[in-house]
Amino acid sequence: MTKPACHDGSLTKIKDLKADYFSITVAPFPHAAKCQPGQFVHLQIPSPELFFRRAFSIAGVTENKDGLEIIFKVFGRGTKILSDYCKGESVNVLGPLGVPFKLPSKREKTIIVAGGVGFPPLMFLAQRMIEKGYNPKSIQFFYGGRSAGDIVEKARLKRMGLNLFPVTEDGSVGARGLVTTEVKKYIMQNGDSKLRMYACGPEGMLKAVDDLGQKLNVPGQVSLEAPMPCGVGICLGCIVPLRKGGNARVCCDGPVFKIGEVLL
Ligand SMILES: Cc1cc2nc3c(=O)[nH]c(=O)nc-3n(C[C@H](O)[C@H](O)[C@H](O)COP(=O)(O)OP(=O)(O)OC[C@H]3O[C@@H](n4cnc5c(N)ncnc54)[C@H](O)[C@@H]3O)c2cc1C
Ligand code: FES
Repeated sequence: MTKPACHDGSLTKIKDLKADYFSITVAPFPHAAKCQPGQFVHLQIPSPELFFRRAFSIAGVTENKDGLEIIFKVFGRGTKILSDYCKGESVNVLGPLGVPFKLPSKREKTIIVAGGVGFPPLMFLAQRMIEKGYNPKSIQFFYGGRSAGDIVEKARLKRMGLNLFPVTEDGSVGARGLVTTEVKKYIMQNGDSKLRMYACGPEGMLKAVDDLGQKLNVPGQVSLEAPMPCGVGICLGCIVPLRKGGNARVCCDGPVFKIGEVLL
């Protein structure tokens, strides 16, 4: 695994996606070319109001591999400050951190389950798979949210050529209901294929994906979030219980874990 770097980068691109979602590009970042889907960075947003760094998944790497894209939703003080930033302002980036996703075999059909702001690392995963020669049509990208405002970068995902299945609780985009209901239907209809599942999103959704994977025998990985004071395995502020007993640190034993590994 690449040794993390701690580096000051400038915001080279800021894009207001919609409904409190923003995409930022930070460059230069020396290890950008070595970043893998599922890994994250810890950003120090310069403000006297903020003591802790904030964790963000890597959503992509710039074309010339010198910078990183992050997609975030305004949640509290830190993300609000970041959303008000202008091009040229600087942030300190610590990363890449954490265990990445393990890619599927090319014979497997990939089921991606993204919930709300959990989609950036999964978009990076799909992008990397396509770059490595996987057939985009072997990727089923289930993308759930409460309403249309939570489904961002739809056109970009479609351009990648994968099979996109948006699902919203109010039915304003795609199928109406919970994303995991649609995933279950897909698994039941494709029971004779080799399937592999990847998920990132809210806790309830991850628990449902984890249950589905275990009950229907679909292996895969889930990416977890936890409060992350240090991000590098020292403070134990991010521990989660393991099914076999004991605990794991989300920041360095994860954030990506096998389905069934963590007691969700
Ligand atoms: C691995 C990982 C990947 C993530 N990826 C994304 C992503 O791609 N996009 C996205 O939008 N969000 C992502 N998040 C969530 C993101 O980190 C939070 O939304 C963000 O930290 C909220 O910060 P805030 O200042 O806006 O909120 P606040 O409400 O100000 O902060 C949340 C609360 O937690 C406390 N806190 C903040 N940071 C820390 C910390 N490091 N340790 C302990 N306490 C802390 C604050 O003091 C406050 O009480 C990810 C989280 C993790 C763990
Ligand atoms: S955040 Fe400190 S050990 Fe994980």
